[in-house]
Amino acid sequence: MGYQQEIERRKTFAIISHPDAGKTTLTEKLLLFGGAIQTAGAVKSNKIKKHATSDFMEIEKQRGISVATSVMTFEYNGFLINLLDTPGHKDFAEDTYRTLTAVDSVVLVVDSVNGVEEQTRRLMEVCRMRDTPVIVFINKMDRDGKNRFDLLEEIEKELNIALHPMTWPINSGKDFKGVYNLAEKNLLLFTAGTKADDEDAIHLNDLGDEFIDMKIGERDANQLREDVELIEAVHGNLNVSEYLAGKVAPVFFGSAVNNFGVQEMLNTFIQIAPTPKQRETSTGAVSPNDDKFSGFVFKIHANLDPRHRDRIAFLRVCSGKFERNKYYHHVRLDKDIRFSNPYSFLARSKDVIEDAYPGDVVGLFDTGNFKIGDTLTEGDNFYFLGIPTFSPEIFKELVNKDPMKAKQLEKGIQQLTDEGVAQLFTQFGGTKKIIGCVGDLQFEVIQYRLLQEYGASVEFRPLPFYKACWLTSKDSKKLEDFLRFKQQNTAEDKDGQPVYLAQSEWFLNTEITNNPDITFHFTSEVH
Ligand code: G4P
Repeated sequence: MGYQQEIERRKTFAIISHPDAGKTTLTEKLLLFGGAIQTAGAVKSNKIKKHATSDFMEIEKQRGISVATSVMTFEYNGFLINLLDTPGHKDFAEDTYRTLTAVDSVVLVVDSVNGVEEQTRRLMEVCRMRDTPVIVFINKMDRDGKNRFDLLEEIEKELNIALHPMTWPINSGKDFKGVYNLAEKNLLLFTAGTKADDEDAIHLNDLGDEFIDMKIGERDANQLREDVELIEAVHGNLNVSEYLAGKVAPVFFGSAVNNFGVQEMLNTFIQIAPTPKQRETSTGAVSPNDDKFSGFVFKIHANLDPRHRDRIAFLRVCSGKFERNKYYHHVRLDKDIRFSNPYSFLARSKDVIEDAYPGDVVGLFDTGNFKIGDTLTEGDNFYFLGIPTFSPEIFKELVNKDPMKAKQLEKGIQQLTDEGVAQLFTQFGGTKKIIGCVGDLQFEVIQYRLLQEYGASVEFRPLPFYKACWLTSKDSKKLEDFLRFKQQNTAEDKDGQPVYLAQSEWFLNTEITNNPDITFHFTSEVH
């Protein structure tokens, strides 16, 4: 197969959802369609249950599971699909945000009963930053959910995206009878507990056909006709370029656990989801068609075995062909490295690969060379843009309990922050080290790993901050003055960038108003 064809058959995406909406279940069904797994139940949920917050073995197990299922590659109808998994637990949301920089599109799962939930909102905000194309799967139609028109309105309003129904449900809960596919003009009937397959799709030339009344009853058939007329009048045909621009999201209704409505979504996905696109770098856009290889690291995973410090860096290939044993240029370190055992992720088994194409994710063994956002090239000196760091939400002071281990602690915290486990800030004019995380569980992981892997014993003291803003200004004097006057609330990040640590929204807004010459950024580019 030619290089161009390899690129054009690749679709790299992630499924995002609020925990429990059905991401794991949907993943499993997609893998079944792709033939990557044979039986249901093969995909382990990567959830950490609430009670396990202090159960470190659980965290360890969790880390093992999530590396195995981090990237799942499967083929479907000639397409090669890379599904990048994202942690379900909100305390690891940062990991999810970064994974979203490595995909070309997302599928958003919404629970029809709960509608838009907190995590849905946050994840969509990240997608909107990059105009990532979104397909919505409204799940659990077999349960008594919200009114479907209300639900669509809620999603549109809350997530600030226009929706385009591709299928339309006939009732929900006990009365759920199936979905009507608006584009294909066929009816897919639902029978609880059984798997829908092609035989269940009834092709219709005309919604007026009395056959429908026979199948779903006159009342529901009339309701369907009314709904479809309304939807068609409002929406017309899907405008694929608006979907690709992240402005319109096609919507499917279904029930993942019953494998209902999933294949309809998958069939549309392979038709319309974007293939690898060009990406911005410090020296201009790089196209997947460029001959020369380039890619970036978006995730680093520590080894499960604490005696071995090697890690796995996840590299997204952006252009050219990645080849085993070939020397590539590590731009930040200005050093050439080759990889003898790169591997691909064919559902749950790791295979050494010879080459990889744009859109693919390669797992690279790393002994400490990489940090999040690093670029590899075939010699060029550019780096990829748009891999931001987001503001943490909980801040704590890192206190060393064992002064004899100061060096180990330094090294450990450096490596853990390289991995993106947490963010490190150092207060100006002092040595106070501040760790910023999204969730409390991350602090427990840090404490545990520093002790296990580096022999460093630490504790954390809560700090009253709620957000970090990165600061820039055209007037360097003004910025300097601000940093001096606000010493208690300013620090530098790991790369030496100044940040303002806000105690509350009120303080933040006051400082923004009082300092018009300083720009407060809510994210920072890694570089
Ligand atoms: P997540 O990865 O988004 O966190 O969700 P997951 O797939 O684990 O699904 C959460 C729960 O919702 C699971 O039940 C799952 O079986 C159920 N579920 C998924 N899709 C549907 C659906 O279409 N209809 C209904 N009624 N339920 C659905 P659980 O009891 O938490 O776990 P399990 O013991 O059943 O695996």
